[in-house]
Amino acid sequence: MSIQTVHVPLGDRAYDVRIGRGLLAKAGAEIARMLPRPHVAILTEDRVAAAHLDTLKAGLEAAGITSATLSLAPGETTKSWDGLTRAVEWLLSERIERQDVVIALGGGVIGDLAGFASAIMRRGVRFVQVPTSLLAQVDSSVGGKTGINTLHGKNLVGAFHQPSLVLADIDVLDTLSPRDFLAGYGEVVKYGMLGKSDFFDWLEINGPAMAAGDKALRAEAVRVSVQMKSDIVVRDETEQGDRALLNLGHTFCHALEAATGYSDRLLHGEGVAIGCALAFEVSARSGFCSQEDPSRVRAHLKTMGMKTDLADIPGDLPDADALLSLMGQDKKVIAGQLRFIMARAIGEAFVTADVSPEIVRKVLAEGLAARTT
Ligand code: GLY
Repeated sequence: MSIQTVHVPLGDRAYDVRIGRGLLAKAGAEIARMLPRPHVAILTEDRVAAAHLDTLKAGLEAAGITSATLSLAPGETTKSWDGLTRAVEWLLSERIERQDVVIALGGGVIGDLAGFASAIMRRGVRFVQVPTSLLAQVDSSVGGKTGINTLHGKNLVGAFHQPSLVLADIDVLDTLSPRDFLAGYGEVVKYGMLGKSDFFDWLEINGPAMAAGDKALRAEAVRVSVQMKSDIVVRDETEQGDRALLNLGHTFCHALEAATGYSDRLLHGEGVAIGCALAFEVSARSGFCSQEDPSRVRAHLKTMGMKTDLADIPGDLPDADALLSLMGQDKKVIAGQLRFIMARAIGEAFVTADVSPEIVRKVLAEGLAARTT
């Protein structure tokens, strides 16, 4: 399987996303041309470091590149002011210069944190994303959203800072648990639902073999997802319009994540899948799309063995009004009005404020009622 490239044409911030097998071991050859001196700083977390750091360092050393590493605790709490302070102070103590490159080796937490640290360290150094989760490969490593969580919520402090290169090594996906793989798949299937119905058709056929481990299918799914993300980011880098489409299912997801305390009761990608099913149900009830579309979405998620309905979330959930109120905290609120990503069909999402809260409440209430029957 050859390495494929998706180019993200953002003018003087353009970069390549390289997708294929064995990229960690080839990292030195991929990165060397970017470096004024053969030395990099690697930010990672302990679980990822145990699985992949030696391979990455050997890949760098093969091209004569030395490295220093800071490994932080795994988990969302690292994406915090404390984590940011540690990362930036460490980069400064390592005397990382303006022309040097920081490597983010990890999932979305490390990518967002290392990206933000790179955005502000010496007023901006370049960074390379080496995403190790499916979710990070298809979403968070591409597009330049970086940041941390605060007491007030997730991703509320950050910067747009595009990476200079993304290395998506398909082999690292082998080390994911089936649950983590499927959570990442929630973001993959989102692309089919929001903008490319033939990709959704393809996933219906190929999704199960991909989840079972077929690497050529995994590489193709990552390539198509990254290409779609690139197309949208290039149209609307700072989310003034179309980029919000990437948040299909996310308004519901963010409310459900808050309601479950950002715990492992619900992983982000699982919430995205449930949120997409809810968004299609609300779209159908609002007359935007046919009733067959939400049924088809749910059928595919269920075939993949994914969480699909509110009933699939373990433990207590608040009532529909409380969930609606949590949805009101969404970043897409403008002048107090919530905007939704709805769909006219599978592959045709659009942004609208014209959604009846009554319909949303009813869909949520029915989903919650199904938990007790
Ligand atoms: N994850 C959504 C975005 O990058 O815009």
